[in-house]
Amino acid sequence: MASPTLTITDNRTGKRYDLPIEHDAIRATDLAQIRVAPGEPGLVSYDPALINTAACKSKVSYIDGERGILRYRGYPIEELAEKSSFLETAYLIVKGELPTTSHFKMWQRNITMHTLVHESVRHFIEGFRYDAHPMGILIATVGALSTFYPEAKHVTDLESRRVQTRRLIGKMPTIAAFAYRHSRGLPYVYPDNDLSYTGNFLSMMFKMTELKYRPDPVLERALDVLFILHADHEQNCSTTTMRVIGSSLADPYSAVAGAAAALGGPRHGSANEEVVHMLHEIGSAERIPALIKQVKAGERRLMGFGHRVYKNYDPRARIIKQIAHEVFEVTGKNPLIDIALELERIALEDNYFVSRRLYPNVDFYSGIIYEAMGLPVAMFPVLFAIARTAGWMAQWAELVLDEEQKITRPKQLYLGYDERHYVPLDGRAEGGPREDAVPPGPL
Ligand code: CMC
Repeated sequence: MASPTLTITDNRTGKRYDLPIEHDAIRATDLAQIRVAPGEPGLVSYDPALINTAACKSKVSYIDGERGILRYRGYPIEELAEKSSFLETAYLIVKGELPTTSHFKMWQRNITMHTLVHESVRHFIEGFRYDAHPMGILIATVGALSTFYPEAKHVTDLESRRVQTRRLIGKMPTIAAFAYRHSRGLPYVYPDNDLSYTGNFLSMMFKMTELKYRPDPVLERALDVLFILHADHEQNCSTTTMRVIGSSLADPYSAVAGAAAALGGPRHGSANEEVVHMLHEIGSAERIPALIKQVKAGERRLMGFGHRVYKNYDPRARIIKQIAHEVFEVTGKNPLIDIALELERIALEDNYFVSRRLYPNVDFYSGIIYEAMGLPVAMFPVLFAIARTAGWMAQWAELVLDEEQKITRPKQLYLGYDERHYVPLDGRAEGGPREDAVPPGPL
């Protein structure tokens, strides 16, 4: 069978072009040959927010948004959430295959070996104000790690990439917990490497004067599953940021700092924080219709709802709803769950949400569980960042090894002034009604 092609007729010139189709995609660079006349600029595709542009080939995770499917390296998220652990899933994501027993033991040892941070990192964190948001502390501190490991700039060196990956996965929980302890004025708790990845994190967060912190196994497992659910998610905003920064061959600590900064926005990884604020603001089920009215009037968004890719249901939200009940058995019910369930019920019967295919996403329920576990709201995006570090590193390594990749440098459609000439300051007419009036503009 002949290779598939796309035929384009340029009605400006009447010329016909046959563009090859591979993996259901045409190459945007093939459009460049389409031009009105030699010397004129070639055609480009215009795609703000990259809604319909594939910028890489990836083998890490797969989403079918229509059917509500998420897989890591081919494995359904439901199976991993039920049977795997976060560290094993992180191995799968980073290395591409599930580990054998001996490889898993080695991986566990390699990660736990890197849970400590340099004492200067602790001093660095101490420099933040007592009320600094932990996400800001995480972003700055992880970026600062590049100064401790200057060899990380050797991004084409396999051994260096491996060590930085272990360090990042190992140290993120420590930095996160230190950020929290700092905000509470509590002494820092150093890692306890006898505990599991999530057990140790809970210890660093909550240990007080007891000699040994013993995490509740249900909560430890629930957090582990939440980490599995957040570990990777195709080319989302923060992963794209990781790849864009990585494309300049910047070191991975700087790239993770940038990715975490992207994650920190309310439309991405801080949505879980916003959901909990929103549910507290609603306070009781009777006030839901008033909120829905505001959302439909375009005054605000229903946080934790909607997704660029999932147009059916976010499979992670379904798993999280189940975990919620297990957690509440231990912690007692978080009353916000009833408001959330009612909000979901009302929204899913409303044509505004149905017609736009807006369903609860992973963040609609995750915050309620975290809150029930005693994790402070400001830590929610930080928890997301700990888990997503595995995905960021896997995607970054894929980028570094991809021979087709170059420094990211998109085009623009220039709509500004044509050439004009400089007029000295005293020759420019005042534009506004007042001499000190600032001319209108975006900044
Ligand atoms: N509440 C109300 N309306 C919404 C919402 C929402 N949460 N999300 C989208 N819409 C509307 C939007 O106003 C637009 O309507 P219209 O066509 O009338 O202008 C339509 O739905 C399409 O929205 P969009 O902004 O073009 O969709 P997008 O794919 O660019 O945005 C999103 C995806 C996740 C940023 C958005 O749904 C949103 O802001 N949701 C709330 C924040 C949130 O929960 N984020 C977490 C995402 S999942 C975790 C993660 O990956 O970070």
